[in-house]
Amino acid sequence: MSQKTILTGVKPTGQPHLGNYLGAMKPAIELSKQPKTQTYLFIADYHSLITVHKRDELNHMIYEVAATWLACGLDPSRTCFYKQSSIPEIFELNWILSCFTPKGLLNRAHAYKAKIQENQELGRTDLDTGVSMGLFNYPVLMAADIVIFNADEIPVGEDQIQHLEMARDMVQKFNRQYGEVLRLPQFSLKRQKLIPGLDGRKMSKSYDNHIFLFLEEKKLRKQIMKIKTDSLPPEAPKDPNQSTIFELYQFFASESQIEALRQRYLNGIGWGEAKEELFQLLNSHLAKPREEYRRWMNEKAELEKLLIAGADRARQEAQQLLKKVRQAIGVES
Ligand code: TRP
Repeated sequence: MSQKTILTGVKPTGQPHLGNYLGAMKPAIELSKQPKTQTYLFIADYHSLITVHKRDELNHMIYEVAATWLACGLDPSRTCFYKQSSIPEIFELNWILSCFTPKGLLNRAHAYKAKIQENQELGRTDLDTGVSMGLFNYPVLMAADIVIFNADEIPVGEDQIQHLEMARDMVQKFNRQYGEVLRLPQFSLKRQKLIPGLDGRKMSKSYDNHIFLFLEEKKLRKQIMKIKTDSLPPEAPKDPNQSTIFELYQFFASESQIEALRQRYLNGIGWGEAKEELFQLLNSHLAKPREEYRRWMNEKAELEKLLIAGADRARQEAQQLLKKVRQAIGVES
């Protein structure tokens, strides 16, 4: 194959933290720099509408996530970068695919099943309490996001695999009826090293152990000083492999920096000192992106323009695919 198409969507969910950056954003940006690949990276704002029903909140979160991607090095001249909501073709395809999706398939979706189970546990008689059709159809919209651009490869985390399998089911069902019209997407599982949070567990907002990516310097320092450690005295030798500070350090440090800090651990380093090292390193990596992020957040019109330009390019592709689909099913000749 001459060119590979990689696509991934990001739901706007508020200010990103280090775990989001290291686990999802950095790897996606690296993928987009590979030769012979076309990347589509989009903001799944209509997926967020399932849960976010406050105008200003949704609007702010969309810009937050867009500004973050740009600040972290997404190059909009190499990557098709757009809001899902700007591509109406996706929603037409969403309908078409839904006509090839057995309801029973969606009944098995993890997010939906979790809601049903929650209602069961709460003793509710209506097990669909709190389930909108948006939530129920989530996997169909996600399939449309992918299929509309003939995407070959979708880098996702473990939690999204079921959605990808469903998308493949829909494509196969459609193609069995009409021939090879839709590209069958593959997924590549991102096996990331666990990114620890302040308490050593996986960094996550739900554990409240996260470090926001773009905290101002003083606050960043304060957060890092909160990383949990044991009570060994400063001079005691320490095991670098049992240290959250060291783990986080390695994500940003060069080989020689890692080696130097490892030696200091083995010789005995105070926790305060180790944290200071981590802060200095992180701050040096994040200072520029932080500034870029602020700049974009103050230039929303610019940001919007860029996203619209991305959507314009993407729509041309989307229209071609949709035309093929409309002809295949017989609503257009
Ligand atoms: N469901 C994904 C998530 O929650 C976001 C998403 C929407 C997506 N559409 C997509 C990811 C298409 C990959 C491809 O993270």
